[in-house]
Amino acid sequence: MSVLDIDFVRAQFPAFSEPSLQGQAFFENAGGSYTCRQVIDRLTRFYTQRKVQPYAPYEASRLAGAEMDEARSRLAALMGVATEELSFGPSTTQNTYVLAQAFRQFLKPGEAIVVTNQDHEANSGPWRRLADAGIEVREWQIDPQTGSLDPAQLENLLDDKVRLVCFPHCSNVVGEINPVAEITAIAHAAGAFVCVDGVSYAPHGLPNVDDLGADVYLFSAYKTYGPHQGVMVIRRVLGELLPNQAHHFNGDTLYKRFTPAGPDHAQVAACAGIADYFEALAAHHGHQGDAAGTGAFVHDLMRAHEVDLLQPLLDRLVARNDLRLLGPSDASRRAPTVALALGRPAEPVAAHLAEFGIMAGGGDFYAQRPLEAMGVDPAQGVLRISFTHYTSSAEVEKLTEALDRVL
Ligand SMILES: Cc1ncc(COP(=O)(O)O)c(C=O)c1O
Repeated sequence: MSVLDIDFVRAQFPAFSEPSLQGQAFFENAGGSYTCRQVIDRLTRFYTQRKVQPYAPYEASRLAGAEMDEARSRLAALMGVATEELSFGPSTTQNTYVLAQAFRQFLKPGEAIVVTNQDHEANSGPWRRLADAGIEVREWQIDPQTGSLDPAQLENLLDDKVRLVCFPHCSNVVGEINPVAEITAIAHAAGAFVCVDGVSYAPHGLPNVDDLGADVYLFSAYKTYGPHQGVMVIRRVLGELLPNQAHHFNGDTLYKRFTPAGPDHAQVAACAGIADYFEALAAHHGHQGDAAGTGAFVHDLMRAHEVDLLQPLLDRLVARNDLRLLGPSDASRRAPTVALALGRPAEPVAAHLAEFGIMAGGGDFYAQRPLEAMGVDPAQGVLRISFTHYTSSAEVEKLTEALDRVL
């Protein structure tokens, strides 16, 4: 397998050559990643050359609309789904909210859904509110020590009333990668759909949603090297079953049904730059093939680099007795999104790290439910250090030294 060419990678991100960011190692990537050059270039071109109402018959407009379509078709192809099954919205929180409104109309009182207490609030609160419409909400709970979701426990929650199971591919504080295909198969066998929050997973490699079997898969482009957009895959069968949430005349177009807001044209178009970047990465590392193959190749390339950097860091952290690492200490089982409970407020520690050129954050990261379930006071929060494939071993070394000083 290829080894990631970190110099090539970093050359694709203008932030790494930006003078004002020199000497700063970025470890709050789970909050929002740096943006790749390909996205920034498309955004600039759109705003300078194509910033007109798209899909009209004049040239600038035709190009604008074509670029928006290109973004959908190329991201969909990387993820193994049809173009019509991928749509953009202002954020994942809003995409989930709209979807929950569709389920509110679709489900009947007395039917049930399953939510977890491992999720970020975005894939939790909107679903729990369906209780107001007479829907029974069942909670699939994490292990208070490990933060893990046990699929065997999900089986105990399922019966013929359950129509939907919502869970994360990876929590933004526990970091553990959940076995989505296995969980989905369990839910489907019980007759339930699944809605997977992939926001904390996608930056580490886009999954093939067809292989996972998920009915809905959500992620946020602004955490995945792109502009501030939410990306939603909804498979056709479910998308056509749920009531249209958009203008009535858009109801026959699958990718418009769950995006009632007018799209942010420039940002949607610029999302094609994520596909440009993934393809450039694959080509640079000698890979050739179709889009789904490129998606899989880039996924494995990113993951291998991240796991290599993450394991020594985890080893050092678990050796300390003055903090609690949330989630697995085995790098292959988790994303490089590492939350540390310090037994004291985390935000001042993040501020102290900033003095050593480390950009990190402290708080609850909208994951109050998992923190509470694990006995961590959300008011104190956790110190979160999160990186991606563009992080270098020198940056991790700098982080390690800084942690030794501030902890
Ligand atoms: C795991 C997870 N899910 C959902 C969200 C919400 O995403 P958005 O900001 O696009 O609404 C976040 C944002 O931090 C997240 O980390």
